[in-house]
Amino acid sequence: MTIMTSKSALFAFPLALCFAACASAQTAQLSIDPGKIVHPVSPMLYGLMTEEINHSYDGGLYAELLGNHTFRPTWEGVVGWGLVRNGNAKASVVPDKATGPSKALPTSLKLTVTEASSGNEAGVTNAGYWGIPVKPKSTYQLSFYAKVDGSIDSVHARLVGNGTGATLAEGNIPVHAGAWSRYQIALGTGTLEASADNHLELTFAKTGTFWIQAASLMPPTFNNRPNGLRTDLMEKMAAMHPKFVRLPGGNYLEGDRLEDWYDWHETIGPLVDRPGHQAPWSYWSTDGLGLLEFLEWTEDLKVEPVLAVYAGYALKHDYIKPGPDLEPYVQAAIDEVEYATGDVSTKWGAQRAKDGHSAPFPLHYIEIGNEDEFDKSGSYSGRFAQFALALRKKYPQYKLIATDKVTVEKAAEPDVIDDHYYKSPADMFDLVHRYDDAPRNGMKVFVGEWATRSGSPTPNFGDALGDAAWMTGLERNSDLIVMASYAPLLVNVNPGGMQWPTDLIGYDALKSYGSPSYYAQCLFAAHLGDGVPQSTISGAGDRFFYSATVSSSDHVLHLKLVNASNHPQTLAVDMKGAKTGAAKLYTLHSGGYFATNSMTNPDSIKPLESTVNLGSSRTVAPYTIEVLDVPLR
Ligand code: AHR
Repeated sequence: MTIMTSKSALFAFPLALCFAACASAQTAQLSIDPGKIVHPVSPMLYGLMTEEINHSYDGGLYAELLGNHTFRPTWEGVVGWGLVRNGNAKASVVPDKATGPSKALPTSLKLTVTEASSGNEAGVTNAGYWGIPVKPKSTYQLSFYAKVDGSIDSVHARLVGNGTGATLAEGNIPVHAGAWSRYQIALGTGTLEASADNHLELTFAKTGTFWIQAASLMPPTFNNRPNGLRTDLMEKMAAMHPKFVRLPGGNYLEGDRLEDWYDWHETIGPLVDRPGHQAPWSYWSTDGLGLLEFLEWTEDLKVEPVLAVYAGYALKHDYIKPGPDLEPYVQAAIDEVEYATGDVSTKWGAQRAKDGHSAPFPLHYIEIGNEDEFDKSGSYSGRFAQFALALRKKYPQYKLIATDKVTVEKAAEPDVIDDHYYKSPADMFDLVHRYDDAPRNGMKVFVGEWATRSGSPTPNFGDALGDAAWMTGLERNSDLIVMASYAPLLVNVNPGGMQWPTDLIGYDALKSYGSPSYYAQCLFAAHLGDGVPQSTISGAGDRFFYSATVSSSDHVLHLKLVNASNHPQTLAVDMKGAKTGAAKLYTLHSGGYFATNSMTNPDSIKPLESTVNLGSSRTVAPYTIEVLDVPLR
């Protein structure tokens, strides 16, 4: 830990920069009265928003390692699955569109082995999502459904290094001829170097026909959940100190066409009963991460869901007319809330218990639709009202979020409106005061999607400055803004993995990294009080921003200072007589807007911790985000 005073921090700049910049710097007056709280901070201010985009779930957070594990055929065949023919083995593989283990998965991959023996095996491979990550001394749970004909009586499963052909883990699974059955085996690794450059092989030394569907290869997961989530990504989310997860989307809730809506019924229960669906971000969603996994994810992070229910609008501008046509979707929403929150005496609460989770999940907010301002038909008011009246009748305790302005009867009025902002750094700086003068006598605000965007695949330091500046506005207005969530959160950085260019956390099959914006959010959320004290600033540059909150329980002032300019900013600080002690200082700094983190350089920009005395003056270096925890005595 470096111990710096404000003076030594100033002298740490290159002399030439300081000479040029200090010459034009003007001292600003910052005055804070920690004893005068003007309003409370929303207890749910910072949260998370994700959806199936950028391989956030399949090939991302959902820990499943097999690509196309539901063997979906396309014109190219069954993508992700290949044929093995060792020695003089003879075999072929085709999609079988008429044979499958369930109504949800009516197709399969059919392997016909006409010649095989020990040393001359035939079989299939799976390359994972840009490789299969294999770690030392770990157990991988392999399972699949199979139907067998002929003399095949065992499957040899191997995790294989792509470059070396080395066996990293292996096992034999006895199988029997006859109808579809589920098979499983645990594959354990020994001492090896972790890598993602691997694949799975399933091979046979005897002839026959083998149909396979609903395969799964699960590594250890966060909290050891079966069918669970990737540990490193969950740990990164936990470090953001979120209070909620908005789920399941975004555009993912809606789909391009009406038939692509997020039908939660088809995302629960055994994997073999989940058909998957076409997601709007260009690829198929297996729904392996379904509604229950979403809810368990919130439980594992000790947060609550903000449940968005489908409201009858498709991204290609089709919509369901309010009235009888919309009724089944309203019922689906009512049932979905019951699945999340009902006790086991209710129909859907009982279903949730059957699916493995008897305790209901906490809930306070239900969002009706997503970005319905794009529905130019004007149907949203009618659709919203129909959902709102039905949901309020059954669940009067929940707050309802609208995604656009609505004209509705009193009983259907929304409690909260969801505003979205995607901006360049320059535009984000201009937006920081957006809510300062907004009326306080109407709906509360949920900023359900926001991001400063210029870096790719993840935000650069200019974006982090924009985000930090924006968060000062969120905190200052947290009497009005009840919740806010950055979007999108996750991106698989492999070629072809990304659909949206600026995303908070990047990863490949094995590793992940936080962007500068990620660290800005971790700092802001981890150092947040429960009240906003009276404060003023004058004379600061136009790219200087601040926020102050006070923790009443531990008597700490959390002061955030954001200098997005290339000049140092000196502040004369007046604490209105409050006695302050040695403060903890967290600094996120870089040499300019384009600096960033990446898979190969994940730690280039990270918070540094030190101790300072706030005193009566502080100079914030150019391109710097500071978070100070100032003890109040
Ligand atoms: O976050 C990416 C997309 O942006 C979301 O799916 C949508 O709600 C918004 O337009």
